[in-house]
Amino acid sequence: MKRITIVFLSLLLLLSISGCGKNKGSESNSSDTSSSDSSSSVESAVPVSEKIHSTEVIDGVTYIDGILIVNKTYSLPKSYNYGLTDDTLKAFKKMKNAASKDNIPLEIVSGFRSYEEQEVLYKEYTAENGKKKADTFSARPGYSEHQSGLAIDVNYADFSTVGSKDMKWLDKHCAEYGFIIRFPEGKESITGYDYEPWHLRYVGKDIAKEIKKQGICLEEYLGITSEYKD
Ligand code: DAL
Ligand code: ZN
Repeated sequence: MKRITIVFLSLLLLLSISGCGKNKGSESNSSDTSSSDSSSSVESAVPVSEKIHSTEVIDGVTYIDGILIVNKTYSLPKSYNYGLTDDTLKAFKKMKNAASKDNIPLEIVSGFRSYEEQEVLYKEYTAENGKKKADTFSARPGYSEHQSGLAIDVNYADFSTVGSKDMKWLDKHCAEYGFIIRFPEGKESITGYDYEPWHLRYVGKDIAKEIKKQGICLEEYLGITSEYKD
C-alpha cells in the first residue's frame, strides 16, 4: 500500500516539474508514459494538457511525440524541400475516392509550398492587408505547414466557402483517412489562425481520430503554443 502511494507521489512530482510546450530546441526528454501497464493507467487519468511530451529536434525540424510540428512557435529550415509525403498523397487519394462515391469531388488546390513560394504569398498578403491581419491567415516563410509536405488545401482556400457541402464532408470524414482540420473553428487563439476548413494536416488515422474525438486542435494535443517571438 505504502509503495503504491510513493510511486503515485513520484509520478505527480515528475508531472509537475517536467511541464510541456516550453522546450523548443531542446533534445528529447525521452519520457515514455506508455511503456508499462501501471503508467498507462496513470496516463489515462492525466488531462491532455498535463501529459508529458517528448521533443526532438532533428536537423532543425521539431518532432513532438514523434509528430513533425510547424506553427508560429516551431519553424522549418529554409532548405526543407521534399514535396508532399507519400503517406499524405496516398491518404488523399483514398479520401478522394470515398468522397466521389458521395458525389463530392475533392482536389488538392495547394499542397507542398517551398519557403520561397510562401515568402512570395506572405509578402502579397501583408502588402494587401498589413502584417497583423496577414498573420491571422497566412504563415510567415519557414512557418507554413505547407512546407512540411503534410498539409493540403482541398478544393479552395476561400473564407466564403465555410459551411459548404464539401467542407462539411471533410469535417465529418477526413479523420478516417488520417487528416485533421488543422485550424478548427473556436481554436483561433490557440492555433494562431482563423478557421480554415479546407486546410488538412496528415497525422495518421489513430491520432486524427483521437483529436477529432476530443474536439481539440494539434497544439492542445501536444501541449504546445503557436506564437511568433516578435
Ligand atoms: N494558411 C496557412 C496558415 C498557411 O499559410 O500555411
Ligand atoms: Zn493551407
